Amino acid sequence: MKKIKIGIIGSGFIAEHHCYAFSQLADVEIVGISSILPDEAQELMEKYHIPGKPFTNYKDLLKLDCDLVSICIPNFLHREVAVEVLAQNKHILIEKPLARTVKEGEAIISAAQKAGKQIFYCENNIYAPSFVKAKEIIDDGAIGQIYMGRGREHHSGPHSKWFYKKEKAGGGALIDLGIHDIACLVWFLGMDVTEVFCQTKIIKKDRGEFGECEVEDNAIGILYFENGAQITIEESWTAPSGFDVRLELYGTEGQIIANPSKMTPVSVYSDGGYNYSVEKAGSTKGWTFPVPEESWVFGYPQEMKYFIECFKQGTKPLTDGKFGLKILQIVEAMYKSAKSKKIEKVKYSNYDD
Ligand SMILES: NC(=O)c1ccc[n+]([C@@H]2O[C@H](COP(=O)([O-])OP(=O)(O)OC[C@H]3O[C@@H](n4cnc5c(N)ncnc54)[C@H](O)[C@@H]3O)[C@@H](O)[C@H]2O)c1
Repeated sequence: MKKIKIGIIGSGFIAEHHCYAFSQLADVEIVGISSILPDEAQELMEKYHIPGKPFTNYKDLLKLDCDLVSICIPNFLHREVAVEVLAQNKHILIEKPLARTVKEGEAIISAAQKAGKQIFYCENNIYAPSFVKAKEIIDDGAIGQIYMGRGREHHSGPHSKWFYKKEKAGGGALIDLGIHDIACLVWFLGMDVTEVFCQTKIIKKDRGEFGECEVEDNAIGILYFENGAQITIEESWTAPSGFDVRLELYGTEGQIIANPSKMTPVSVYSDGGYNYSVEKAGSTKGWTFPVPEESWVFGYPQEMKYFIECFKQGTKPLTDGKFGLKILQIVEAMYKSAKSKKIEKVKYSNYDD
C-alpha cells in the first residue's frame, strides 16, 4: 500500500493532536517535523515513531517528498508559511484561525488557487462527535426554526506567550476560542451571519511568565443570522475550571444543548486530587469531570481521517479555506464592533472555485 506522506510544521500543543490523529491512520505516514524547538520536536518524533531529526527551518522539511503539510504554528506565521508550502506544490492543513486578518487569509486562498492545491481548514469542533450528533438532529428538524442560542468556550488562558501578544496572535479570546463557536453556529444553522455586535475586555493583564496580556481575555458578542436568529457567544481566558465548551440552541419546536467537556460520563470527587482531568484544568481536587479519550471527544482524529479521505477522493472538505475565511470575516467584523460599539455588517469576499 502506498502511504500518504505528511509533513508537520510545529511541535507544540496542536501538533501533538495532529501526530496522534495521523498515527491512527494505517495509510498515512508522517515523514518529518519542523520546529524552532528541536528538543520538543524530537520528543514528539520519538513518541510517534517518526524517523530522522527535526528540521529547524521549515523550508528544509518541504524538500522531502510529501503530499500534505500540517501548519501548527503561531498565527502570525500562517500566511507566510502557508503561501510558501502551497508554492512548493503541497496541500495544506492549517489550524484555526486561517490567519490574523482577512487580508492575510485572502493571500492564502489566492496562493492555493494559483498552485491548484487544497486548503484543509482545521476546525476540530465540526468533527467532534457530540456536535456532529447535534447537527444531525437539527437537520432532522427536531427543534424547528432556530431563533436564539448561545456558544461558550472558556479556560484559564493559553499555554504559550505568543497567544497574549497582539502582533503574534492577531487578537485574544475571540479569535482563539470564539472562532470555534462561530464556525459551529454557522454550520449548525447552515446560513450566513449578516451583522454582529461585540464587546471585549482585558480582566487579567499580568500573566506572570507570559508577561502582559495585550489582547482581550474576555469577549461577548451577538451573531445575527439571515433568518433573524440572534445567538450570543461568550469567550473567556480567565475561567480557572479547565477547558469548557458548550453550545445551546433554541428553536420553535425544541432546544438542544451540547457540552462535551462537562457532561462527561465520569464525575469524580477527590480530596487530594489526581493526575489529569482535562486540558487546562487548574486543579483536580473536589468535584471534577475528566474527559475520557480527549482527542476523540474534541474531534481531532475524525477530522484528520475525513481530510485524508477528501484528499484520496479529490473532493473539497466541508471546512475548506473559504470556510475558514468566512469565519475570519465574522471575527473581523466583531473586532470592528468592539471598537465602534455599534452593530456592524459582515463583509464577505467573492471567490470563484
Ligand atoms: N484546533 C484547536 O482547538 C487548537 C488548539 C490550540 C491551538 N490551535 C492553533 O494551532 C496553532 C499553534 O498553536 P499551539 O497551541 O500548538 O502553539 P504552541 O505554542 O503550543 O506551539 C507552537 C509551535 O510552533 C513552533 N514554531 C514557531 N515558529 C516556528 C517556525 N518558524 N517554524 C517551525 N516551527 C515553529 C514552535 O516551536 C512550537 O512547537 C495556532 O494557530 C493555534 O490557534 C488550535
